[in-house]
Amino acid sequence: MNVGKYPKTSYENELKWLKLLLELNSMTITEILQFADRLVFAHRGKHLDDIQETVIKGVWQGKTYENIAQECNRSESRIRDVGYQLWKTFSESLGEEINKSNFRSTIERLQTEAKSRQNICVGTNHNFGSQNLYQYQKYPQYSQSKDTTKITFQDLSIAPTINPAYFYGRTKELEIISNYILHQKTRLMSVLGLSGIGKTTLVKIFIDLNIQQFDVVIWRNFKLVKSLNSLMTELLKKITLQNQNILISDEQFTQFLDLLSRQKCLIVLDDVQNIFISRKFAGQYQTQHTEYQNLFQAIAQTEHQSCVILISQEKAQEMTALDRELYPIQCLELEGLDNSAGIEIIQEYKLQDRDYWLKLNNMYLGNPLYLQYICTLIKDIFQDLVSQLIAEENLIITEEMKLLFDTLYQRMSEIEKQIVLKISKCDENISIEDLKKSCSLSSIDIINGLQSLKRRYLLNQIKTNNTLFSLSPLFKEYIKNFQMQN
Ligand SMILES: Nc1ncnc2c1ncn2[C@@H]1O[C@H](COP(=O)(O)OP(=O)(O)OP(=O)(O)O)[C@@H](O)[C@H]1O
Ligand SMILES: [Mg+2]
Repeated sequence: MNVGKYPKTSYENELKWLKLLLELNSMTITEILQFADRLVFAHRGKHLDDIQETVIKGVWQGKTYENIAQECNRSESRIRDVGYQLWKTFSESLGEEINKSNFRSTIERLQTEAKSRQNICVGTNHNFGSQNLYQYQKYPQYSQSKDTTKITFQDLSIAPTINPAYFYGRTKELEIISNYILHQKTRLMSVLGLSGIGKTTLVKIFIDLNIQQFDVVIWRNFKLVKSLNSLMTELLKKITLQNQNILISDEQFTQFLDLLSRQKCLIVLDDVQNIFISRKFAGQYQTQHTEYQNLFQAIAQTEHQSCVILISQEKAQEMTALDRELYPIQCLELEGLDNSAGIEIIQEYKLQDRDYWLKLNNMYLGNPLYLQYICTLIKDIFQDLVSQLIAEENLIITEEMKLLFDTLYQRMSEIEKQIVLKISKCDENISIEDLKKSCSLSSIDIINGLQSLKRRYLLNQIKTNNTLFSLSPLFKEYIKNFQMQN
């Protein structure tokens, strides 16, 4: 049998094991059927029917095809055909030959292998659905590493829990992050992109897969962190395990950088856009937070063995990767999920009209959060029929999307607002010259405004002879519907 080679990359491999670990641990026959159903649905786009279920159940229990046929009142040859198709699908999905005689033993072996790889998950705060596979330690968690001078510490208490079974695509991005952090020893990395595109999720999955590579892993969120002093104090206390009051002083900075060189730390700072100013160009620090800029620069410029990941919807100057090989600053700007990953999200909602799923993914730009919102709307209003949503004259902006866009719009400078209002009125892509003619803004304002919109991931640049610009289609629809009339 010609079995398609799977997985192709090491991250596909790791994710496959993480998912198998989740799926295969202490499965009951009902769970085996659910597992088989997911494999068959992902492969053939159809759920298991009654005969297929009976065959799987029977074979799992060691029955012959003849017995199974008698039990369900079908011919033996029919049962054999059903079995043949099932083993073919399982073989292609799992990347190894599966047949009636080895079905149960293969699943059990995969289960054992998946368990032996449990170390890739230990120490994370996964909560794999109702069946918690392993007893995960509570956070924060300290432990003594093999090297007795080092203490390992993890605080992921405010990081989201990601169920890898529902994480799709992004293997290329995982390879990129891994290459930057683990191989190129990047000291400062930013993960950037629109709200809902999957920044937080991607970084958390990277941590779940690589947690053992670090002595210290800490996740902080700028929705909660306020001043640089409080962040420094907290990080120093955690990394050094000292509970006494740490004095706020200029030396904190040096002390912190010193720790980054003694321990291999991974520090994630999420939602960094919260320390940037609203109603100004993107990525500018609020006056009380300008010192963060110095911290980020120092992290990039000082020799150490750690990495700080900044996650943000807006790009700041120091998040720009310099095109120099092995330069210790990198950035990853996330785009939407690829078609197959987007379709897997749509599939979760058990919608109809499969032929339109690809179009739906493209309309909502492969943004997993937008896809979740629009699939919920299709369930609620269009009786699961994707075709009905597609038939609507305009792109539909759900109430949740509108709230996200309201926040984005409110954060923009007046110059950017004028530019987006102008671009939204045009049916065609627009050049800088056209903007100059139609806006009452100076050239420099237009150029800086466009750069700021790019730093918010709202502007597409079309590279022809003459550079042209367009707005992200959903944002354009939002402006037309909710801002033009103001
Ligand atoms: N690769 C993926 N596969 C499936 N679902 C995903 C994937 N990436 C993200 N999601 C889902 O999309 C939603 C948004 O993801 P996430 O919170 O990571 O976005 P974000 O870019 O961090 O957004 P924000 O800037 O608003 O914080 C979440 O519900 C998450 O579970
Ligand atoms: Mg996020």
